[in-house]
Amino acid sequence: MTTIDGRTTRLADVDLYNPDNFVDGVPYHLFKILREEAPVYRHPEPYGPGFWALTKYDDVVKVSLDSATFSSELMGTNIPDPPEDSLAFLRMIMLNMDPPKHTKYRRLVSKGFTPKIVLAMEPHVRKTANEIIDRVAERGECDFVNDIAAELPLQVILELMGIPVEDRHMVFEWSNRMIGFDDPEYQSSPADGQAAATQMFMYANQLAVDRKQHPRDDVISTLMSAEVDGEALTEAEFNAFFVLLSVAGNETTRNLTSGGMLALVEHPDQRDRLLADPSLVPTAVEEMLRWVTPVIYFRRTVTRDTEIRAQKIGEGEKVVMYYGSANRDEDVFPNADVFDVSRDPNPHVTFGPGGSHFCLGASLARLEIRVMFEELLRRLPDIELAGPIRRLRSNFIAGIKQMPVRFSAEASAQTKGRT
Ligand code: HEM
Repeated sequence: MTTIDGRTTRLADVDLYNPDNFVDGVPYHLFKILREEAPVYRHPEPYGPGFWALTKYDDVVKVSLDSATFSSELMGTNIPDPPEDSLAFLRMIMLNMDPPKHTKYRRLVSKGFTPKIVLAMEPHVRKTANEIIDRVAERGECDFVNDIAAELPLQVILELMGIPVEDRHMVFEWSNRMIGFDDPEYQSSPADGQAAATQMFMYANQLAVDRKQHPRDDVISTLMSAEVDGEALTEAEFNAFFVLLSVAGNETTRNLTSGGMLALVEHPDQRDRLLADPSLVPTAVEEMLRWVTPVIYFRRTVTRDTEIRAQKIGEGEKVVMYYGSANRDEDVFPNADVFDVSRDPNPHVTFGPGGSHFCLGASLARLEIRVMFEELLRRLPDIELAGPIRRLRSNFIAGIKQMPVRFSAEASAQTKGRT
């Protein structure tokens, strides 16, 4: 039995599967119990055989770096085993591939995300961030999630892919439906999520065909013409990549921006430090990434009998890496429960700890988050909550759906248009 934040919880009460346990925020107190009492914990699963919950930093790193023992491809990367008929589709998404297939695919799509391409985007990202702020600055209030946080990643990824303006919100809605299957507000059943994926797939296919015939200066055209060892992406492979990008590039960055803003509002001393010294923004971005950890977990399936911390784990069993728990592991992060915008070093695993699946969009996400907070701190320095926030009901994505805020409209009107 452990008492944390005045809450007494027993190991037997830990439930990381029920999405209801995430609607008030990621249950860090449950992670702490597991780290202290059962770092390799046999977690029950309502409609499945159960899984091993890994909550220590070192174990998350070990599993991520060993794709021969811990497979992404066998059963995908979410906790429930996928139905047999959707496995083929899932395995077309690079997140759910193992080497050597993954290696070939990753080398191809990396051509669209070189550091040079990302670096060259900064002026465009900054202009877009300012246009987004322009739209709310004089109102003195807005919904931070939909009016600010969601817009930048959406516009950047769609611009990068060369998607026509009039189609942009369709892609946004499809990705919400795909990720929101546990949240009644986004309707959505696994079947509806699948339907949204299919619609997106067909849309991607039209784009691919168009760019093959009329190449342009965008990532789609680059990907359609990229070759590694004489091999190119097939149309189906491209479509699957498009679906992954639209979801991976949107939901995560949006939730980081909202969660990062909330952290600043809840830690006014840390915001004051940033306002006084904007050169702290880069370390603040890393601390927001550690603090928010938008992707709660990924799963692997064990390919051969193995051991973690002397716990035997059999072939075919599933292990689940809890990134947010690794990011609060006291063995790695001194004062892990303290939000400190100058924390350095900060070896968080929010994009994965390295290894072959390390987030392809990490530098793009870092760029977007840094630029957005530079502009927000400059133009809307006194954002505060204007009502209760509402979180996504999900055990997979740490998301905020709504966050009403108010700020001093005058201050924004004075500085507006300075870029
Ligand atoms: C704060 C924002 C983001 C977070 C927290 C995040 C997190 C992650 C994580 C945890 C992984 C798996 C890492 C692993 O298994 O080792 C991943 C993979 C991936 N991410 Fe991100 N991501 C973010 C933004 C983005 C963006 C902006 C893009 C695209 C533009 C993107 C594209 C991808 C792709 C394509 C993969 C699969 C890579 C592979 O399987 O090789 N992500 N991301």
